[in-house]
Amino acid sequence: MSNKMWGGRFASGPDAVMEEINSSIEFDRHLYRQDIAASKAHAAMLAKQGIIAREDAKKIAHGLDTILSEIESDKFDFKRVLEDIHMNVEGRLAELIGSSAGRLHTARSRNDQVATDFKLWIREAIDTLDGVLAVYQRALAEKALAHAGTVMPGFTHLQSAQPVTFGHHLLAYVEMAARDRGRFADARARLNESPLGAGALAGTSFALDRNMTAKELGFARPTANSLDAVSDRDFVLETLSAAAICAIHLSRFAEEIVLWCSPLSGLIALSDKFTTGSSMMPQKRNPDAAELVRAKTGRIVGALNALLMVMKGLPLAYQKDMQEDKHGAIDALGALSLCIAAMTGMVGDMTPNEARMKEMAGAGYATATDLADWLVRTLKMPFREAHHITGRIVAAAEKAGAALDKLPLVAMQAVEPRITKDVYAVLPVDRSVASRVSFGGTAPKNVRAQAKRWLKKLGKEGA
Ligand code: ARG
Repeated sequence: MSNKMWGGRFASGPDAVMEEINSSIEFDRHLYRQDIAASKAHAAMLAKQGIIAREDAKKIAHGLDTILSEIESDKFDFKRVLEDIHMNVEGRLAELIGSSAGRLHTARSRNDQVATDFKLWIREAIDTLDGVLAVYQRALAEKALAHAGTVMPGFTHLQSAQPVTFGHHLLAYVEMAARDRGRFADARARLNESPLGAGALAGTSFALDRNMTAKELGFARPTANSLDAVSDRDFVLETLSAAAICAIHLSRFAEEIVLWCSPLSGLIALSDKFTTGSSMMPQKRNPDAAELVRAKTGRIVGALNALLMVMKGLPLAYQKDMQEDKHGAIDALGALSLCIAAMTGMVGDMTPNEARMKEMAGAGYATATDLADWLVRTLKMPFREAHHITGRIVAAAEKAGAALDKLPLVAMQAVEPRITKDVYAVLPVDRSVASRVSFGGTAPKNVRAQAKRWLKKLGKEGA
């Protein structure tokens, strides 16, 4: 039997494999709420414009409400032969209300329909992500405030660099998440134009009120070019690229958590809530959630790459290739949301090993810069010279097997005779971090102020 929706010129139905490759219902069924909302807005507009009878529009709206509750109560029979969510809904509508259902598709195509539905879906996904990112930021800022003065080793090249505070390190991720939220907000603002009414590609001869449907669906305005409206998937690409960058940020933090939990550093501990055991080795406690956040980045970035490849070289206007936009995007944005929730959980759960952090913060001559700065400040030495002299003192300390603050004054004076015992005041790690008061620096006082600023801002957002 040929297709009821478009099979007029077809004598028979599709081959089984044709049906399989053509169908998208398995993943675009996620769009049922958006599809029904857009159809209701379209029907109401058609009636207001006198294109269909009010009586028909009423029946359509009631039928669509019934379908919504059928789907939500798991009573809807999704059919692969009806290809996608649009025809599944319309097919069921015909069963429920008869011939009036056939009037819904006046001045509409699945091409403008799918673009509208997916924009609505993506917009909602962005709003959800923004909410979970705000919760993540708050968890970070709270932990940062609690550990504004907790000294930890700061690394560059994964080598001891300078002591920092744990709170400062956590606030770095708050900043990243803020930029992520900014990127999502930008994508949301740009996507918010309604494609509905663009038709298949050329617009329509019916006197539509596209402003009315745009407004009803929360769009800022209708799209201005019908060809662009049905062939644009920038909104998915932009959202996925924001998601990819966000996932990259999470993967960096996840990697740090894995490193911090390892006995190689032992900087933090995660509780039973965010670790798992091994089936063979009874002693194990593995940071699986962090590892999975790190790994899911692959799927999220992969979805962006996949859609970029789908869109590359596609001529105007709609091409069926574009049906491949949903699978990866729906999967990726769901995975990202889960990753953010897992990171939020781990931030709350983690306990820093403060003694270990402090010990490691001082290892590797991490306050050598403080010594060089002391030479600049006290002996008025040019920094380059101070750097060189400090390097020689570090070499002497290394040879003596002593930490910088344990190196006898005479050993330092052997390199630079003008050094006095006052130098020891700047060498302890707490003194080092306390001195980093430049704006954006790691001093506990700065960190406390920044953490409070974020908590206030996030509290005001009410997210
Ligand atoms: N399922 C399709 C998609 O997701 C809907 C649009 C189909 N349009 C068409 N002319 N076949 O892209």
